[in-house]
Amino acid sequence: MDKNQSIITCKDVSTDRLKDISFELRRKQIMTIVGPSGAGKSSLLFLLNRLEEPISGKIYYLGQNIKDIPVTQLRCEIGMVFQSAYLFDGTAEENIQYGPKMSGKLEDCNVDRLLDLVDLPKSFKMRHVTSLSGGEQQRVAIARTFANKPSVLLLDEATSALDIKTTEHIEELLIRLRDEKEISILMVTHNLKQAERMGSQTLYMEEGKLIERGMTTRMFAHPETNHFEKFLKE
Ligand SMILES: Nc1ncnc2c1ncn2[C@@H]1O[C@H](COP(=O)(O)OP(=O)(O)OP(=O)(O)O)[C@@H](O)[C@H]1O
Ligand SMILES: [Mg+2]
Repeated sequence: MDKNQSIITCKDVSTDRLKDISFELRRKQIMTIVGPSGAGKSSLLFLLNRLEEPISGKIYYLGQNIKDIPVTQLRCEIGMVFQSAYLFDGTAEENIQYGPKMSGKLEDCNVDRLLDLVDLPKSFKMRHVTSLSGGEQQRVAIARTFANKPSVLLLDEATSALDIKTTEHIEELLIRLRDEKEISILMVTHNLKQAERMGSQTLYMEEGKLIERGMTTRMFAHPETNHFEKFLKE
């Protein structure tokens, strides 16, 4: 597949909280999204997963308007991980099997392999998720998302409740998944160091608008807008 292929294209998208958002996410790209609280970062991710709908503009996944893709299929291919793991009451295995079970593909779901992918031992299968640490729960949440074999991962402050060491582990995991599974990642974070470490491209949002975007290293070294420059100094 073309390395530079656009996986997600957002074209002039507006909602009551977002104004004219356009960007492209490419294969194997990690794009970080930063901006003050209330800027519309989560709202943007919700649109890509059809948890919300645009008022105007279009969103394409692999060239197809996401409105024309069945929602369950879209949410398998574009997986989302939130700040809290949102696991349901049950074992790690039950949580990981949930998506494949819903789409009738339970036989394709290798729980041992998925646990291994997120560096958890097989013995965790039968562990009740309430007995796991925050970092372990977040790994189960990532494994559960990966059970659906996504090509895109949307992360909304997925490590903000975790300590530095666990955050580093999850970051390594994400980079490995990007390399091995060739997924693209769109990552909202309040941690500017993380946005700089992880991103190849960055979007800076404010009041529902995309104020600045570009290569992460360039943006953090030489912000082009006063808005982003000020944000970096705060
Ligand atoms: N369900 C909702 N109904 C109405 N307004 C909402 C809703 N959710 C968020 N908003 C508003 O939309 C704006 C953008 O919110 P959003 O949650 O996308 O911001 P954010 O950048 O993710 O902020 P944070 O960094 O605090 O998570 C805010 O002004 C917020 O109050
Ligand atoms: Mg948010």
